[in-house]
Amino acid sequence: MKSILITGGAGFIGSHTCLLLLEKGYIIFIVDSFINSSDQSIERISTILKKQGINIEGRIYLIKGDLKKKCDIEKVFEMSFTLQKNIECVIHFAGLKSVFDSVRKPINYWENNVNGTINLLKVMEKYNCRNIVFSSSATVYKINTSEPVGENDPCQPVNPYGNTKLAIEKFLNDLYKSQPNSWRIACLRYFNPVGAHESGLLGECPLNRPNNLYPRITRVAIGKIDKIKIFGLDWPTRDGTCIRDYIHVMDIAEGHLLTLDHLLKEKSQFLTLNLGTGKGTSVIELIRKFEKVNNVKIPFSFDKRRIGDSPFVVADNSLAMSILNWTPKKNIDDACRDGWNWQLKNPNGF
Ligand code: NAD
Ligand code: WQD
Repeated sequence: MKSILITGGAGFIGSHTCLLLLEKGYIIFIVDSFINSSDQSIERISTILKKQGINIEGRIYLIKGDLKKKCDIEKVFEMSFTLQKNIECVIHFAGLKSVFDSVRKPINYWENNVNGTINLLKVMEKYNCRNIVFSSSATVYKINTSEPVGENDPCQPVNPYGNTKLAIEKFLNDLYKSQPNSWRIACLRYFNPVGAHESGLLGECPLNRPNNLYPRITRVAIGKIDKIKIFGLDWPTRDGTCIRDYIHVMDIAEGHLLTLDHLLKEKSQFLTLNLGTGKGTSVIELIRKFEKVNNVKIPFSFDKRRIGDSPFVVADNSLAMSILNWTPKKNIDDACRDGWNWQLKNPNGF
Protein backbone atom coordinates (compact mmCIF):
# COMPACT_ATOMS: atom_id res chain seq x y z
CA MET A 1 0.00 0.00 0.00
CA LYS A 2 1.44 3.35 -1.03
CA SER A 3 1.37 6.38 1.27
CA ILE A 4 0.29 9.70 -0.21
CA LEU A 5 0.35 13.15 1.38
CA ILE A 6 -2.68 15.26 0.53
CA THR A 7 -2.27 18.95 1.29
CA GLY A 8 -5.60 20.74 1.60
CA GLY A 9 -7.30 17.34 1.82
CA ALA A 10 -10.19 18.66 3.92
CA GLY A 11 -11.26 21.06 1.17
CA PHE A 12 -13.74 20.59 -1.66
CA ILE A 13 -11.68 18.76 -4.29
CA GLY A 14 -9.21 17.33 -1.76
CA SER A 15 -11.88 15.57 0.29
CA HIS A 16 -13.47 13.91 -2.75
CA THR A 17 -10.02 12.76 -3.87
CA CYS A 18 -9.18 11.42 -0.38
CA LEU A 19 -12.35 9.36 -0.51
CA LEU A 20 -11.34 7.73 -3.79
CA LEU A 21 -7.75 7.14 -2.59
CA LEU A 22 -9.04 5.32 0.49
CA GLU A 23 -11.46 3.30 -1.65
CA LYS A 24 -8.49 2.22 -3.76
CA GLY A 25 -6.49 1.12 -0.71
CA TYR A 26 -3.96 3.95 -0.33
CA ILE A 27 -2.65 5.18 3.02
CA ILE A 28 -3.22 8.92 3.25
CA PHE A 29 -1.71 11.70 5.33
CA ILE A 30 -3.76 14.88 5.18
CA VAL A 31 -2.35 18.24 6.16
CA ASP A 32 -4.75 21.15 6.29
CA SER A 33 -4.87 24.46 8.15
CA PHE A 34 -8.69 24.50 7.85
CA ILE A 35 -8.54 28.08 6.64
CA ASN A 36 -11.33 27.23 4.20
CA SER A 37 -12.62 23.88 5.47
CA SER A 38 -13.29 21.83 8.58
CA ASP A 39 -12.34 18.40 9.85
CA GLN A 40 -15.99 17.42 9.43
CA SER A 41 -15.29 16.57 5.79
CA ILE A 42 -12.86 13.90 6.98
CA GLU A 43 -15.46 12.55 9.41
CA ARG A 44 -17.87 12.29 6.49
CA ILE A 45 -15.32 10.39 4.41
CA SER A 46 -15.08 7.84 7.22
CA THR A 47 -18.88 7.61 7.39
CA ILE A 48 -19.20 6.96 3.66
CA LEU A 49 -16.48 4.31 3.69
CA LYS A 50 -17.92 2.60 6.77
CA LYS A 51 -21.26 2.35 4.95
CA GLN A 52 -19.41 0.74 2.05
CA GLY A 53 -17.78 -1.73 4.45
CA ILE A 54 -14.28 -0.40 3.71
CA ASN A 55 -11.83 -0.57 6.62
CA ILE A 56 -9.60 2.49 6.89
CA GLU A 57 -7.91 1.69 10.16
CA GLY A 58 -4.25 2.72 9.99
CA ARG A 59 -4.79 4.29 6.57
CA ILE A 60 -5.81 7.86 7.35
CA TYR A 61 -3.85 10.46 9.32
CA LEU A 62 -5.15 14.00 9.68
CA ILE A 63 -2.70 16.66 10.80
CA LYS A 64 -3.67 20.27 11.38
CA GLY A 65 -0.84 22.25 9.86
CA ASP A 66 -0.02 25.25 7.74
CA LEU A 67 2.27 25.00 4.72
CA LYS A 68 3.51 28.48 5.51
CA LYS A 69 5.33 26.79 8.40
CA LYS A 70 7.98 24.42 7.18
CA CYS A 71 8.05 22.66 10.54
CA ASP A 72 4.39 21.65 10.12
CA ILE A 73 5.25 19.86 6.89
CA GLU A 74 8.34 18.28 8.43
CA LYS A 75 6.19 16.88 11.23
CA VAL A 76 4.06 15.01 8.71
CA PHE A 77 7.03 13.48 6.89
CA GLU A 78 8.62 12.55 10.25
CA MET A 79 5.38 10.89 11.27
CA SER A 80 5.23 8.86 8.07
CA PHE A 81 8.81 7.70 8.62
CA THR A 82 8.16 6.77 12.25
CA LEU A 83 5.13 4.76 11.18
CA GLN A 84 7.20 3.18 8.39
CA LYS A 85 4.66 4.46 5.91
CA ASN A 86 6.97 6.73 3.93
CA ILE A 87 5.21 9.27 1.77
CA GLU A 88 5.78 8.40 -1.89
CA CYS A 89 3.86 11.17 -3.55
CA VAL A 90 2.17 14.46 -2.68
CA ILE A 91 -1.11 15.71 -4.09
CA HIS A 92 -0.95 19.42 -3.44
CA PHE A 93 -4.40 21.00 -3.19
CA ALA A 94 -3.69 23.47 -0.38
CA GLY A 95 -4.10 27.02 -1.53
CA LEU A 96 -6.28 30.09 -1.36
CA LYS A 97 -8.56 30.24 -4.38
CA SER A 98 -10.73 33.34 -4.43
CA VAL A 99 -9.98 35.55 -7.41
CA PHE A 100 -11.81 38.40 -5.70
CA ASP A 101 -9.83 38.18 -2.44
CA SER A 102 -6.57 37.80 -4.30
CA VAL A 103 -7.02 41.21 -5.90
CA ARG A 104 -7.51 42.80 -2.49
CA LYS A 105 -4.89 40.76 -0.64
CA PRO A 106 -2.11 39.80 -3.05
CA ILE A 107 0.44 39.40 -0.22
CA ASN A 108 -1.72 36.72 1.41
CA TYR A 109 -2.08 34.90 -1.88
CA TRP A 110 1.61 34.98 -2.80
CA GLU A 111 2.65 34.08 0.72
CA ASN A 112 0.18 31.25 1.15
CA ASN A 113 0.23 29.72 -2.31
CA VAL A 114 3.80 30.33 -3.44
CA ASN A 115 5.74 30.33 -0.15
CA GLY A 116 3.64 27.39 1.03
CA THR A 117 4.59 25.44 -2.09
CA ILE A 118 8.28 26.34 -1.79
CA ASN A 119 8.26 25.09 1.82
CA LEU A 120 6.55 21.90 0.71
CA LEU A 121 9.07 21.21 -2.04
CA LYS A 122 12.00 21.91 0.30
CA VAL A 123 10.72 19.33 2.75
CA MET A 124 9.90 16.83 0.00
CA GLU A 125 13.45 17.09 -1.28
CA LYS A 126 14.85 16.67 2.22
CA TYR A 127 12.85 13.48 2.66
CA ASN A 128 13.62 12.25 -0.81
CA CYS A 129 10.06 12.42 -2.06
CA ARG A 130 10.11 13.73 -5.63
CA ASN A 131 6.63 12.98 -6.93
CA ILE A 132 3.95 15.65 -6.91
CA VAL A 133 0.57 16.40 -8.46
CA PHE A 134 -0.23 20.10 -8.31
CA SER A 135 -3.68 21.76 -8.45
CA SER A 136 -3.41 24.36 -11.15
CA SER A 137 -6.24 26.14 -12.90
CA ALA A 138 -7.65 27.15 -16.25
CA THR A 139 -7.26 30.65 -14.93
CA VAL A 140 -3.60 30.58 -16.06
CA TYR A 141 -4.62 30.80 -19.74
CA LYS A 142 -4.73 33.97 -21.77
CA ILE A 143 -8.31 35.10 -22.35
CA ASN A 144 -9.65 33.78 -25.65
CA THR A 145 -13.05 33.97 -27.17
CA SER A 146 -14.25 30.91 -28.91
CA GLU A 147 -11.89 27.93 -29.09
CA PRO A 148 -11.26 25.17 -26.53
CA VAL A 149 -7.92 25.83 -24.92
CA GLY A 150 -5.00 23.38 -25.10
CA GLU A 151 -2.05 22.96 -22.76
CA ASN A 152 0.31 24.67 -25.20
CA ASP A 153 -1.85 27.76 -25.65
CA PRO A 154 -0.49 31.01 -24.23
CA CYS A 155 -0.75 31.66 -20.52
CA GLN A 156 -1.46 35.12 -19.17
CA PRO A 157 -3.43 35.27 -15.95
CA VAL A 158 -5.27 38.48 -15.18
CA ASN A 159 -5.44 38.35 -11.38
CA PRO A 160 -3.05 37.65 -8.47
CA TYR A 161 -4.60 34.23 -7.81
CA GLY A 162 -3.87 33.15 -11.39
CA ASN A 163 -0.40 34.65 -11.16
CA THR A 164 0.39 32.49 -8.14
CA LYS A 165 -0.76 29.35 -10.00
CA LEU A 166 1.36 30.10 -13.04
CA ALA A 167 4.34 31.04 -10.83
CA ILE A 168 4.09 27.68 -9.06
CA GLU A 169 3.90 25.81 -12.38
CA LYS A 170 7.05 27.62 -13.51
CA PHE A 171 8.80 26.92 -10.22
CA LEU A 172 7.95 23.22 -10.52
CA ASN A 173 9.23 23.20 -14.08
CA ASP A 174 12.53 24.81 -13.00
CA LEU A 175 12.86 22.20 -10.30
CA TYR A 176 12.22 19.41 -12.76
CA LYS A 177 14.83 20.78 -15.18
CA SER A 178 17.40 21.21 -12.39
CA GLN A 179 17.48 17.46 -11.79
CA PRO A 180 16.28 15.55 -14.84
CA ASN A 181 15.66 11.88 -14.11
CA SER A 182 14.59 12.75 -10.61
CA TRP A 183 11.25 14.52 -10.33
CA ARG A 184 7.85 13.33 -11.46
CA ILE A 185 5.56 16.34 -11.61
CA ALA A 186 2.03 16.83 -12.92
CA CYS A 187 0.24 20.18 -13.04
CA LEU A 188 -3.47 19.61 -13.46
CA ARG A 189 -5.37 22.60 -14.76
CA TYR A 190 -8.94 22.25 -13.55
CA PHE A 191 -11.72 24.06 -15.34
CA ASN A 192 -14.89 24.66 -13.27
CA PRO A 193 -15.33 21.87 -10.70
CA VAL A 194 -18.94 21.49 -9.51
CA GLY A 195 -21.27 18.89 -7.98
CA ALA A 196 -20.70 16.70 -4.96
CA HIS A 197 -20.39 13.07 -3.91
CA GLU A 198 -23.59 11.21 -4.77
CA SER A 199 -24.18 10.26 -1.10
CA GLY A 200 -24.91 13.90 -0.26
CA LEU A 201 -22.48 13.56 2.66
CA LEU A 202 -19.56 15.34 1.02
CA GLY A 203 -19.62 18.56 -0.98
CA GLU A 204 -18.40 22.10 -1.36
CA CYS A 205 -18.48 24.06 1.87
CA PRO A 206 -16.62 27.36 1.58
CA LEU A 207 -16.39 29.16 4.90
CA ASN A 208 -17.03 32.57 3.37
CA ARG A 209 -19.68 33.81 0.95
CA PRO A 210 -18.95 32.08 -2.36
CA ASN A 211 -18.14 34.12 -5.45
CA ASN A 212 -18.45 31.25 -7.89
CA LEU A 213 -21.61 30.67 -9.87
CA TYR A 214 -22.40 27.07 -8.93
CA PRO A 215 -22.33 27.37 -5.11
CA ARG A 216 -24.33 30.57 -5.51
CA ILE A 217 -26.99 28.68 -7.47
CA THR A 218 -27.34 26.05 -4.74
CA ARG A 219 -27.58 28.83 -2.14
CA VAL A 220 -30.32 30.57 -4.11
CA ALA A 221 -32.15 27.25 -4.34
CA ILE A 222 -31.97 26.76 -0.56
CA GLY A 223 -33.05 30.36 0.08
CA LYS A 224 -29.80 31.77 1.46
CA ILE A 225 -29.32 34.17 -1.46
CA ASP A 226 -32.24 35.96 -3.19
CA LYS A 227 -31.18 35.58 -6.79
CA ILE A 228 -28.29 35.18 -9.18
CA LYS A 229 -26.93 38.31 -10.76
CA ILE A 230 -25.70 37.28 -14.18
CA PHE A 231 -22.58 39.19 -15.11
CA GLY A 232 -23.26 40.39 -18.65
CA LEU A 233 -25.77 39.60 -21.37
CA ASP A 234 -23.70 41.13 -24.13
CA TRP A 235 -20.92 38.56 -24.48
CA PRO A 236 -20.22 37.16 -27.96
CA THR A 237 -21.82 33.79 -27.15
CA ARG A 238 -25.01 31.94 -28.21
CA ASP A 239 -27.18 33.54 -25.51
CA GLY A 240 -25.01 36.50 -24.51
CA THR A 241 -23.80 34.96 -21.22
CA CYS A 242 -20.36 33.47 -20.56
CA ILE A 243 -19.59 29.86 -21.37
CA ARG A 244 -17.63 27.61 -19.01
CA ASP A 245 -16.58 23.98 -18.78
CA TYR A 246 -18.30 22.67 -15.64
CA ILE A 247 -16.82 19.36 -14.56
CA HIS A 248 -18.11 17.03 -11.84
CA VAL A 249 -15.80 16.97 -8.82
CA MET A 250 -15.75 13.14 -8.85
CA ASP A 251 -14.35 13.20 -12.39
CA ILE A 252 -11.65 15.60 -11.18
CA ALA A 253 -10.93 13.26 -8.25
CA GLU A 254 -10.70 10.29 -10.63
CA GLY A 255 -8.27 12.30 -12.78
CA HIS A 256 -5.96 12.54 -9.75
CA LEU A 257 -5.97 8.81 -9.16
CA LEU A 258 -5.08 8.14 -12.77
CA THR A 259 -2.38 10.83 -12.71
CA LEU A 260 -0.91 9.22 -9.61
CA ASP A 261 -0.86 5.78 -11.28
CA HIS A 262 0.69 7.26 -14.38
CA LEU A 263 3.41 9.24 -12.56
CA LEU A 264 4.42 6.41 -10.26
CA LYS A 265 4.77 3.86 -13.03
CA GLU A 266 6.43 6.13 -15.61
CA LYS A 267 9.90 7.62 -15.70
CA SER A 268 10.71 11.11 -14.45
CA GLN A 269 8.62 13.71 -16.25
CA PHE A 270 6.90 17.09 -16.12
CA LEU A 271 3.29 16.96 -17.27
CA THR A 272 0.68 19.64 -17.73
CA LEU A 273 -2.89 18.46 -18.28
CA ASN A 274 -6.29 20.08 -18.62
CA LEU A 275 -9.04 18.50 -16.54
CA GLY A 276 -12.27 19.60 -18.18
CA THR A 277 -15.11 17.97 -20.09
CA GLY A 278 -14.54 19.76 -23.39
CA LYS A 279 -18.19 20.90 -23.31
CA GLY A 280 -19.31 24.46 -22.75
CA THR A 281 -22.39 25.58 -20.82
CA SER A 282 -23.56 29.19 -20.58
CA VAL A 283 -24.63 30.82 -17.34
CA ILE A 284 -28.28 30.78 -18.42
CA GLU A 285 -28.01 27.16 -19.56
CA LEU A 286 -26.57 26.12 -16.20
CA ILE A 287 -29.34 27.88 -14.29
CA ARG A 288 -32.03 26.34 -16.53
CA LYS A 289 -30.45 22.90 -16.22
CA PHE A 290 -30.34 23.15 -12.43
CA GLU A 291 -34.00 24.21 -12.36
CA LYS A 292 -35.09 21.37 -14.62
CA VAL A 293 -33.10 18.55 -13.02
CA ASN A 294 -34.07 19.55 -9.48
CA ASN A 295 -37.48 21.05 -10.09
CA VAL A 296 -36.58 24.28 -8.30
CA LYS A 297 -36.76 27.93 -9.25
CA ILE A 298 -33.60 30.04 -9.52
CA PRO A 299 -34.49 33.71 -9.86
CA PHE A 300 -31.93 35.79 -11.73
CA SER A 301 -31.36 39.27 -13.08
CA PHE A 302 -28.73 40.80 -15.31
CA ASP A 303 -25.86 42.90 -14.13
CA LYS A 304 -22.86 44.43 -15.86
CA ARG A 305 -19.88 42.35 -16.95
CA ARG A 306 -17.46 41.24 -14.20
CA ILE A 307 -13.92 42.59 -14.70
CA GLY A 308 -11.48 39.92 -15.83
CA ASP A 309 -14.14 37.52 -17.16
CA SER A 310 -13.71 35.76 -20.44
CA PRO A 311 -16.67 34.85 -22.68
CA PHE A 312 -15.54 31.30 -23.35
CA VAL A 313 -13.37 28.95 -21.24
CA VAL A 314 -13.61 25.33 -22.36
CA ALA A 315 -10.92 22.65 -22.19
CA ASP A 316 -9.33 20.77 -24.99
CA ASN A 317 -9.08 17.66 -22.81
CA SER A 318 -7.64 15.31 -25.44
CA LEU A 319 -4.19 15.12 -23.85
CA ALA A 320 -5.48 14.06 -20.42
CA MET A 321 -7.82 11.57 -22.10
CA SER A 322 -5.03 9.94 -24.07
CA ILE A 323 -2.22 10.05 -21.48
CA LEU A 324 -4.31 9.04 -18.48
CA ASN A 325 -6.92 6.98 -20.26
CA TRP A 326 -9.39 9.23 -18.41
CA THR A 327 -12.87 10.16 -19.51
CA PRO A 328 -15.24 12.36 -17.56
CA LYS A 329 -18.09 10.00 -16.68
CA LYS A 330 -20.60 12.46 -15.28
CA ASN A 331 -22.54 15.13 -17.07
CA ILE A 332 -24.00 18.45 -16.08
CA ASP A 333 -27.30 16.82 -15.00
CA ASP A 334 -25.38 14.62 -12.53
CA ALA A 335 -23.52 17.67 -11.22
CA CYS A 336 -26.78 19.62 -10.76
CA ARG A 337 -28.48 16.69 -9.02
CA ASP A 338 -25.55 15.80 -6.73
CA GLY A 339 -24.80 19.40 -5.75
CA TRP A 340 -28.44 19.99 -4.84
CA ASN A 341 -28.65 16.72 -2.90
CA TRP A 342 -25.60 17.85 -0.89
CA GLN A 343 -27.02 21.34 -0.27
CA LEU A 344 -30.45 19.99 0.74
CA LYS A 345 -28.98 17.49 3.19
CA ASN A 346 -26.55 20.09 4.59
CA PRO A 347 -28.26 23.48 4.39
CA ASN A 348 -25.66 24.97 6.74
CA GLY A 349 -22.67 23.01 5.46
CA PHE A 350 -20.97 20.33 7.54
P1 NAD B 1 -10.75 24.53 -0.96
O1 NAD B 1 -10.55 25.89 -0.41
O2 NAD B 1 -12.02 23.84 -0.67
O3 NAD B 1 -9.55 23.57 -0.48
C1 NAD B 1 -8.25 24.05 -0.25
C2 NAD B 1 -7.82 23.50 1.11
O4 NAD B 1 -6.50 23.95 1.37
C3 NAD B 1 -8.70 23.98 2.24
O5 NAD B 1 -9.08 22.87 3.03
C4 NAD B 1 -7.81 24.93 3.02
O6 NAD B 1 -8.12 24.95 4.40
C5 NAD B 1 -6.43 24.36 2.73
N1 NAD B 1 -5.32 25.33 2.82
C6 NAD B 1 -5.22 26.52 2.22
N2 NAD B 1 -4.03 27.08 2.51
C7 NAD B 1 -3.37 26.21 3.31
C8 NAD B 1 -2.09 26.21 3.93
N3 NAD B 1 -1.26 27.24 3.83
N4 NAD B 1 -1.73 25.14 4.67
C9 NAD B 1 -2.57 24.08 4.80
N5 NAD B 1 -3.79 24.03 4.25
C10 NAD B 1 -4.19 25.09 3.51
O7 NAD B 1 -10.49 24.62 -2.52
P2 NAD B 1 -10.75 23.53 -3.65
O8 NAD B 1 -11.84 24.01 -4.51
O9 NAD B 1 -10.81 22.17 -3.07
O10 NAD B 1 -9.40 23.71 -4.48
C11 NAD B 1 -8.28 22.90 -4.27
C12 NAD B 1 -7.15 23.40 -5.12
O11 NAD B 1 -7.54 23.40 -6.48
C13 NAD B 1 -6.72 24.84 -4.81
O12 NAD B 1 -5.32 24.92 -4.90
C14 NAD B 1 -7.37 25.65 -5.90
O13 NAD B 1 -6.64 26.82 -6.18
C15 NAD B 1 -7.35 24.68 -7.06
N6 NAD B 1 -8.41 24.92 -8.04
C16 NAD B 1 -9.71 24.98 -7.62
C17 NAD B 1 -10.71 25.24 -8.55
C18 NAD B 1 -12.14 25.38 -8.12
O14 NAD B 1 -12.91 26.04 -8.82
N7 NAD B 1 -12.58 24.77 -7.00
C19 NAD B 1 -10.38 25.38 -9.90
C20 NAD B 1 -9.05 25.29 -10.29
C21 NAD B 1 -8.07 25.05 -9.33
C1 WQD C 1 -18.56 31.31 -13.94
C2 WQD C 1 -19.42 32.20 -14.82
C3 WQD C 1 -19.26 34.55 -14.31
C4 WQD C 1 -21.12 34.34 -10.38
C5 WQD C 1 -13.25 30.78 -11.36
C6 WQD C 1 -11.78 31.04 -11.29
C7 WQD C 1 -11.04 29.88 -11.85
C8 WQD C 1 -11.47 28.57 -11.19
C9 WQD C 1 -12.94 28.40 -11.25
C10 WQD C 1 -10.01 28.29 -9.32
C11 WQD C 1 -18.70 33.48 -15.23
C12 WQD C 1 -20.65 34.05 -14.06
C13 WQD C 1 -20.59 34.04 -11.61
C14 WQD C 1 -22.33 35.09 -10.33
C15 WQD C 1 -22.38 35.14 -12.73
N1 WQD C 1 -11.14 28.54 -9.80
N2 WQD C 1 -21.20 34.42 -12.76
N3 WQD C 1 -22.90 35.46 -11.52
O1 WQD C 1 -14.77 32.81 -13.21
O2 WQD C 1 -15.09 30.77 -14.66
O3 WQD C 1 -13.59 30.65 -12.74
O4 WQD C 1 -13.56 29.56 -10.69
O5 WQD C 1 -8.99 28.09 -9.91
O6 WQD C 1 -9.72 30.14 -11.60
O7 WQD C 1 -11.49 32.21 -12.03
O8 WQD C 1 -16.00 30.77 -12.33
O9 WQD C 1 -18.04 30.36 -11.07
O10 WQD C 1 -16.86 32.56 -10.76
O11 WQD C 1 -18.02 32.11 -12.90
O12 WQD C 1 -22.95 35.51 -13.76
O13 WQD C 1 -22.84 35.43 -9.26
O14 WQD C 1 -20.55 32.64 -14.06
O15 WQD C 1 -19.28 35.82 -14.91
O16 WQD C 1 -19.07 33.75 -16.53
P1 WQD C 1 -14.87 31.35 -13.32
P2 WQD C 1 -17.24 31.45 -11.65
